[in-house]
Amino acid sequence: MAKPLNIGVIGCGFMGRTHSNGFLQAPKFFDLPYRPVLKKICARNADRAKSFAANWGYEGFETDWRKLVASPEVDLIDIASPNDTHREIAIAAAQAGKMVMCEKPLGRNAEESEAMVKAVESARVRNMVWYNYRRVPAVTLAKQLIDAGRLGRIFHYRTVFLQDWTISADLPQGGEGLWRLDADVAGSGVTGDLLAHNIDTALWLNGPIEEVSAMTETFIKARKHNLTGKEQPVRIDDASAFLARFRNGSLATFEATRYARGHKALYTFEINGENASIAWDLHDLHRLEYFDHRDEGRLRGWRSVHITDGDHPYMKQWWVPGLQIGYEHTFIHQVADFITALGEGKDAAPTFRDALATDYVIEAVLKSAANRNWAKVREEA
Ligand SMILES: NC(=O)c1ccc[n+]([C@@H]2O[C@H](COP(=O)([O-])OP(=O)(O)OC[C@H]3O[C@@H](n4cnc5c(N)ncnc54)[C@H](O)[C@@H]3O)[C@@H](O)[C@H]2O)c1
Repeated sequence: MAKPLNIGVIGCGFMGRTHSNGFLQAPKFFDLPYRPVLKKICARNADRAKSFAANWGYEGFETDWRKLVASPEVDLIDIASPNDTHREIAIAAAQAGKMVMCEKPLGRNAEESEAMVKAVESARVRNMVWYNYRRVPAVTLAKQLIDAGRLGRIFHYRTVFLQDWTISADLPQGGEGLWRLDADVAGSGVTGDLLAHNIDTALWLNGPIEEVSAMTETFIKARKHNLTGKEQPVRIDDASAFLARFRNGSLATFEATRYARGHKALYTFEINGENASIAWDLHDLHRLEYFDHRDEGRLRGWRSVHITDGDHPYMKQWWVPGLQIGYEHTFIHQVADFITALGEGKDAAPTFRDALATDYVIEAVLKSAANRNWAKVREEA
């Protein structure tokens, strides 16, 4: 019988739900050394916390995260609340000797993230950041193909994350659901919110980025703030695009916006190597597009591989070949990998330190855009 791993989750919004589902489902589909127990959910509103706890099967709830962190009943603190809460909670949790899982971006800026890395490393607690797209089976397969050298030398990395939900000038900023538009809470705009994912995946697949040249724009300069009721300047980047040079010599373009009418969450990447190319699209997440120049000439072309077979990453744990899985499974995979590594006395990636590398790229992007020149990406301290 697997030992219990007592979980306390903070935040019962979008990510509170994906994480709760991940903790519940992981032991049903994966053979794990620990069994996650949903001990407590934390939300500031007691009614909301109570009904969330009842719906997802939590044993109890708190309205103050400090109580959750101090609770001897909890082994692992999972941070699924907005970015301005991450640093304080993660540091307190580490100091209390709890394992910490934290949503992305790790901090609102690299300084916050550095303090969080220091806290978990000096307390020697297991830690992980929810860059969940690494665990889409097709993306994991892309990593395996690259690591096996199938693409050969890599020349190009091209990636976008496009949305369209902030185009209306009437949309307010701040507060529940709209904290992403408030720079004090979010840290940055689409660079830290959307491009953080593209950057994490890119660093994982293609190695470190050395320098960037970026431009950002805030299309709507002022919006009513939900908490003050006043029209206030918008200080987040609405759109962000940058060129990058990877350490391996390849060139990249990254673009994210919330002003691409018609796109809800178009996250794509394409990688071009000497021998082969791969492409992936979140809207068709169970497919990996693959082109291999070494194929027989007359039959050479892009293959659209349906990543649903038993020899594809994670897929033998699921249904039968040919049947696809979806977005929520990336969180289930992340829980399964974390707990498997825990059983082996190891860390599962991305750790806080891995996620700090993404924050250094974000920092360079924002600096480059502000100064209108190329910026070097800080190397790990
Ligand atoms: N991995 C991903 O793909 C992904 C997707 C969405 C969001 N995120 C990240 O997850 C985090 C949460 O985003 P979301 O979309 O779930 O936001 P959300 O607005 O849907 O939910 C946030 C929740 O946190 C609660 N909260 C805020 N402050 C709190 C506090 N002090 N104590 C307890 N609860 C508090 C809110 O009431 C709300 O329930 C952010 O860091 C975001 O960047 C990651």
